[in-house]
Formats: sequence, structure tokens, C-alpha cells
Amino acid sequence: VIRFDGQVVVVSGAGRGIGRAHALLLGERGAHVVVNDADGDVANSVVAEIEAPGGAATAAIGDVVEDAAAIIDAALSVAGRIDALVNNAGIAWDKPFGSDAVRETERLLRVHVLGTVALTQCAWVPLVEVGGRVVNTTSGAVMGLVHSTAYAAAKGAILGWTRSLALEAAPLGVKVNAVMPMARTRMFELAGGEVGSAQDVWLSDNFPPELIAPTAVFLASEGVPFSGQVVETSGGTTAPVLICVGDYRAARTPEEVRDALVGTEGELTVVHGLAEMLATKMSS
Ligand SMILES: NC(=O)c1ccc[n+]([C@@H]2O[C@H](COP(=O)([O-])OP(=O)(O)OC[C@H]3O[C@@H](n4cnc5c(N)ncnc54)[C@H](O)[C@@H]3O)[C@@H](O)[C@H]2O)c1
Repeated sequence: VIRFDGQVVVVSGAGRGIGRAHALLLGERGAHVVVNDADGDVANSVVAEIEAPGGAATAAIGDVVEDAAAIIDAALSVAGRIDALVNNAGIAWDKPFGSDAVRETERLLRVHVLGTVALTQCAWVPLVEVGGRVVNTTSGAVMGLVHSTAYAAAKGAILGWTRSLALEAAPLGVKVNAVMPMARTRMFELAGGEVGSAQDVWLSDNFPPELIAPTAVFLASEGVPFSGQVVETSGGTTAPVLICVGDYRAARTPEEVRDALVGTEGELTVVHGLAEMLATKMSS
């Protein structure tokens, strides 16, 4: 059984949706959960939900970038340790690419990317001390999603950041993975979904946020054996997301490039890092 007794786990954006589900399951499994949210009311009510059946939680209200140091200080004041950090806070919207693209991209990069970087930076030394875990949150939008260029840029950055930090963290004993969730939350409304529509009902019935939490909780646990993985989870299933390259073919002229890339299929090779990809290329 996967338990967190005696461990402190920070969850950002834990007042609603997926983060709330993570926090409740971590609380059930014995963690002292530090419930961060920019919205104090929802953070406090999740703390009460964890405490009601006998769990332990502390609210850390604030913005993941501006208040990162204070959020991590609140976690350290619980027991002088941080065993896992779940970077989940985020926002989204439905906006076509256009004249506001720079401002919109800056705003989403700030919350998702800088929020993740700031909390991880502040928690890094305590995480290294205990051989801790970082669980980041990317999105299927990195595969391509209309009206989501700013969001996909931010979530794509988190994907590359996760895999890169995992390589650096390996000798330090820290595991860094990411979830790629899909669930019916308030984000559905923020991203332009129609409340009460057939799609809404289908998503609500089949993709509740509670079904994301088991994957994040496993990735946050002491026994997680791997690092640098991105794990898709939704509707009660989970699967690793793999980055693959196809066959290497001659490409010394634009015509060779055309013949190599258009209408050809080849073997796929899973890649775990850029150095590994270059090594494969050199040996092919
Ligand atoms: N819902 C999905 O299908 C889906 C899909 C892919 C990725 N995600 C990601 O999952 C995460 C959680 O999303 P959700 O669907 O539960 O959304 P949600 O809107 O229900 O909850 C997000 C929570 O984060 C908080 N938050 C936002 N900005 C913050 C900040 N700067 N500092 C602190 N707290 C902040 C909000 O107040 C809110 O309570 C996000 O990173 C989101 O991008 C969600």
C-alpha cells in the first residue's frame, strides 16, 4: 500500500479541480498536505475536507510565482521537511492566435512555467535532503490544440523542463515526473466549454478529477522507480507518453529531405534525452 505517513507534500492550485483531488487522496494516504491556492476560500475549505476524517493539512494561500518562498516556508514549518511537490496550479482559456499573442503567452508562461520553476527552486534543497519527488503538470495540448497556442507553449515548456531537470536530479536522488491529465473541471468553462452540453455531461460522467489523483499520488510517492516520465491519465486509465524519432535517412539536399520526410514511414525509436538521441543518430 502506498502511504505518506510522516511526509509533507505541497500541492499548488489545490483549492479546486485536479489539485483538490490530489490533496484529498494524499491526505487519505497519511501525508501532511500543504494546500496552496491563490484563492484563500477554496484552499481553506480543502484543508477542512482533509481534516474532517482525521487527515492533516495546512493552507498556504498565495500566488505560485510571487509567494513561492512563503508557500515553501509554510511547508517547512510543518515538520522541517518537504517530501514531494506537486506543481499543479494553472489557468487556461480559449483564444485564437492573434494580435494579443505576446501578452497572452507571457501570462500563461508566467503562471505555468515560472510558477513551477519558482516553487521547485524554493523547495529544491529540502527535496534533495530527503530524496524527494517533483510532479509537474503538462497537457495533451502539447500534441496540438486549436485556440491554445499560449497554453501549449507553457505546457510544452513544462514537458522539456521536467525531462531536463530529471537528468540533473538523478545523481541527487530526486525524481521528477509529470502528469498529462484530462478532467472535467472549472477549466472546461474557462476554455470555452458549454456548461450542460452533451459534451459537458459526457466529460463530467467519465472524466472526474478524482481519477487523475492516483497517478499523481504514485508519482509523488517514495517508491516511484523512474524519473523524467510524462504520464497521460484520464478517465481511470494511465499510460506513459513517449517521444519517438523515426528512421534517419540521407538529407544532404532539399530533394533528399523531401524524399526522406514525405510519404515515408519507418521504425520508431523511443528517446529519453537529447544526448541519447544523438548517440542513436551517430550509431545509425
Ligand atoms: N482539466 C483538464 O482537463 C486539464 C488538462 C490538462 C492539464 N490540466 C492542468 O491541470 C492543472 C489543474 O487544472 P484544473 O483543471 O484542476 O483547473 P481549475 O481551474 O479547476 O483549478 C486550478 C486551481 O489553480 C489555482 N491557481 C491558478 N493560478 C494560480 C496561481 N498563480 N497561484 C496559485 N494558485 C493558482 C486556481 O485558483 C484553481 O483553484 C492546471 O495546471 C491545468 O493546466 C488540466
